[in-house]
Amino acid sequence: MGGTYVIGMGVYIAHPTTQRVGYAPTQPVPFSHALHAGELGMDCRYCHNTVEDSAQASVPPTQTCMNCHTNIRGQSEKLIAVRESYGTGLPVEWVRVHDLPDFVYFNHSAHVNRGVGCVSCHGRIDKMERVNQDQPLTMGWCLSCHREPEKSLRPLTEITKMDYVPLEDQAVIGASLKKEFKIRERDKMTDCSLCHR
Ligand code: HEC
Ligand code: HEC
Ligand code: HEC
Ligand code: HEC
Ligand code: HEC
Repeated sequence: MGGTYVIGMGVYIAHPTTQRVGYAPTQPVPFSHALHAGELGMDCRYCHNTVEDSAQASVPPTQTCMNCHTNIRGQSEKLIAVRESYGTGLPVEWVRVHDLPDFVYFNHSAHVNRGVGCVSCHGRIDKMERVNQDQPLTMGWCLSCHREPEKSLRPLTEITKMDYVPLEDQAVIGASLKKEFKIRERDKMTDCSLCHR
């Protein structure tokens, strides 16, 4: 049973469009990234384990939560929807926060395997009690990085590190990583067919 979002339900119909910076819908479980990814220091990939291999980062299945919550806070009221999901086999109905229009192609693995960290697009998730959209996700926003990716590239070991700061000049590191990862030239990075296929 995989983690999924509610589709076709009321909450999903109003397409949370791009440019909605700060959009932070209420979730069926008050899951806190500030606690799990921040205080407890869990790596993003423990839960979003498809992010390096596929286009989607995906929300975790209930089993991932139950690895701990069978024992930890096993009776908590805040975890009722998680225990129900575990019992029925139906996924928790998480509400989507980020959602590009369907005519835009996006791929997580293409970014996180080329030195673009989660924080560049999602902000300090490790400080969020409730996830909110940190960046505009407009075409102009995508293109501003695609024109100068070297400003944002980091070593692959630092992809999920929220407080990474480059040890030397970013211009030097970025230029060398751009070569190492064989990043496309600017005309290809801004070609319409890259994102509109
Ligand atoms: C313990 C599991 C867990 C960990 C660790 C975790 N997440 Fe999540 N994440 C979730 C769950 C569950 C949701 C769906 C509920 C929500 O939005 O809070 C989610 C939602 C998200 C979303 C919003 C998805 C949407 O609907 O658009 C982003 C972005 C995200 N996580 C990024 C991260 C990043 C970055 C890290 C590491 C700093 C991380 N997560 C660590 C479980 C986790
Ligand atoms: C690696 C272990 C671990 C995993 C996996 C994990 N949690 Fe937690 N969670 C904790 C710990 C530790 C606490 C804090 C318990 C405390 O305050 O005593 C916690 C607290 C919580 C709370 C607050 C409970 C309360 O009564 O205050 C919620 C809600 C929660 N987690 C949801 C989730 C969800 C949803 C998932 C799956 C997406 C998840 N957790 C995965 C370890 C985990
Ligand atoms: C280059 C920008 C970018 C980077 C880097 C990035 N994301 Fe995302 N993320 C997005 C966009 C854009 C969406 C919305 C995708 C859509 O609607 O199709 C998204 C959606 C998500 C979602 C919702 C599920 C999904 O796949 O649509 C999760 C969870 C998530 N990201 C987690 C992460 C984690 C964890 C990392 C780092 C390992 C990360 N993201 C890195 C831009 C990014
Ligand atoms: C912070 C920098 C950054 C941001 C923001 C960003 N990208 Fe990228 N994008 C990159 C890099 C770096 C690559 C890798 C290019 C390569 O491998 O040649 C890439 C590659 C891609 C690819 C090629 C994927 C493939 O399969 O080859 C697509 C499509 C794409 N990005 C779409 C988007 C969209 C859509 C957005 C906005 C929602 C976005 N990107 C935002 C840096 C970024
Ligand atoms: C790096 C990814 C990327 C590239 C390259 C790109 N776009 Fe887009 N485009 C987007 C995203 C994301 C959106 C949706 C968000 C928005 O409307 O700003 C979008 C939206 C659009 C829209 C709809 C605007 C609207 O108001 O609904 C049109 C038309 C469009 N793009 C045309 C183009 C053309 C023409 C090119 C080439 C010159 C191009 N795009 C190159 C990412 C890209």
